[in-house]
Amino acid sequence: MNATSSNAVLRADTASADYGVDLTPVQSFLRCATPLSWLEQVDANLGLLLIDHANCEKKAASTALNLLYKYIDRPELLHKLSKLAREELRHFEQVLEQMARLEIHYEHVSPSRYAAGMRQHVATHEPAKLVDTLIVGAFIEARSCERFALLVPVISTIDMALGKFYLSLLKSEARHFKDYLNLASSYALAHNNSEAAALKGVAANKRMIDVERRIDFFGEIEAGLVTAPDSEFRFHSGASS
Ligand SMILES: [Fe+2]
Ligand SMILES: [Fe+2]
Repeated sequence: MNATSSNAVLRADTASADYGVDLTPVQSFLRCATPLSWLEQVDANLGLLLIDHANCEKKAASTALNLLYKYIDRPELLHKLSKLAREELRHFEQVLEQMARLEIHYEHVSPSRYAAGMRQHVATHEPAKLVDTLIVGAFIEARSCERFALLVPVISTIDMALGKFYLSLLKSEARHFKDYLNLASSYALAHNNSEAAALKGVAANKRMIDVERRIDFFGEIEAGLVTAPDSEFRFHSGASS
């Protein structure tokens, strides 16, 4: 692959494609589009993609469950993420069904650098830690949604039923992205309001969570992970090295 094509980025032709879901919020939230060189690896690595996708669905469910254990005093989080965890496990079962149909053997595959690359920057004190974790969740869901949209036309030419399956996942991942983002914003706002009520002026401002700044911060990190050359192909890997 030449340098020009490996550096090229993709925009799913979502304006004309009938995905049944508006991808504009997802695409404008992400700081960059997926590199073309990532999509070009799909055909030769379909089995690996499905295995890692199964792992990602499982991990998405367990991340949501961990939050349910940790934040029992957050009713909205408990409600949204319990539903989300169930959906992720259903997706996991559906990926397993596709793998069985295509005779793809489930074997151990190491995770990509992607999620850990963002989580290492999560704040260590509360409630900033919760807000950061929810923002990272929003980026993972948004990127997954964007990649499903890119995969639909490519995979449909390889296996029509698998292409339809990826199309069916778009809607829920777009909703998960919004759920994570709304929770992050509302918990930051609630924290800021309570700080403003308890403290005055500079003292209160110092303790505020600037959610837009944190979104920008993680947006830059996410874009770096997605565009930098990656030695391993995975569902969330970067450009081909
Ligand atoms: Fe999912
Ligand atoms: Fe999801």
